[in-house]
Amino acid sequence: MSRINSGGEPAFPITRLRRLRRSSSIRDLFQETRVSVRDLIYPIFVQDEIDGPLNIDSMPDIKRIPISNLADEIQEIIDLGIRGVILFGIPSNKSDDGNSAYSNRGIVQRSIKLVRQNFGERVALISDVCLCQYTMHGQCGIVSNGNVDNDKSIGILAKVAVSHAKAGADIVAPSAMMDGQVGHIRTALDESGFSGVAIMGYSAKHASSLYAPFRDASSSAPRSGDRTSYQLPFYNRREAIREIELDIREGADIVMIKPAIPYLDIIYQARKITNLPICAYSVSGEYSLIKAAAAEGWIDENNLITEFITSIKRAGSDIIITYHAKKMASLLNNNI
Ligand code: PBG
Ligand code: ZN
Repeated sequence: MSRINSGGEPAFPITRLRRLRRSSSIRDLFQETRVSVRDLIYPIFVQDEIDGPLNIDSMPDIKRIPISNLADEIQEIIDLGIRGVILFGIPSNKSDDGNSAYSNRGIVQRSIKLVRQNFGERVALISDVCLCQYTMHGQCGIVSNGNVDNDKSIGILAKVAVSHAKAGADIVAPSAMMDGQVGHIRTALDESGFSGVAIMGYSAKHASSLYAPFRDASSSAPRSGDRTSYQLPFYNRREAIREIELDIREGADIVMIKPAIPYLDIIYQARKITNLPICAYSVSGEYSLIKAAAAEGWIDENNLITEFITSIKRAGSDIIITYHAKKMASLLNNNI
């Protein structure tokens, strides 16, 4: 029977490519999204005054490391082909105003210097700029009269960013979600002679239950209350896009969306409204869900990591911060 009907049109469409996909070379040739090791950024927790690595119960295989282990850690990451890390510091003591966050002898500042001195330009250094690990109350800003004081906070955050730049950070990443933080930090960096240091805005950072393991990892849980007064509600897509637009106007060089997997629609839309690089932060809870299910034997860890990370890139993210970065890198390196 002819497939061509009297009008010259195919009587029914056939999907030849799908049939051809029995062949692995055809599958490779027509694969639209490819994750590269170079897309990945690995988060590192450096803790002051510990003698050896500490396990994090809710994040299997992720550790807090002492600064004495940092060079080995970075070497391992570079050997895997990863080109970027984001540093989080855990100081030995906390204060009301979080002043150890901007000390030149602070844990992050010393870590940045050490990596810069030993590895030069072989790894891009991103530093998280926030106060929650450094304040007794665990909020991301300064608290006065029981409330987070936005305007006081951005002044301190700017000091933190400048101290990271002084130590040698390439990119500072303010995660406190204070209004005006990107603009304020941009001005402070420029006035201190660091106009070449870039800002990655945590532009659309949602108040998410997926941060719980991170707060364990970095001792940064708020002592009381939560962060819904400054982080974004997950109900609102247009608001997330407005926040991204604001960060761009304030001078962000890279915009970030966080978490990643439940927010692919926001990544997809952000890709349409800006030509700036987009970063997605696949957060601690996204990691731990996979690790927990894998430990039970309920899912295939390697396949699911690949599927999740590829989906984040397919949605429009250029770079991806993920605790799976080392494992993903090994998978990619073995697959070529
Ligand atoms: C704190 C901060 C958080 C994360 C990065 N920086 C947690 C929070 O805001 O509660 C989350 C990272 C993760 O869950 O992996 N400023
Ligand atoms: Zn914070």
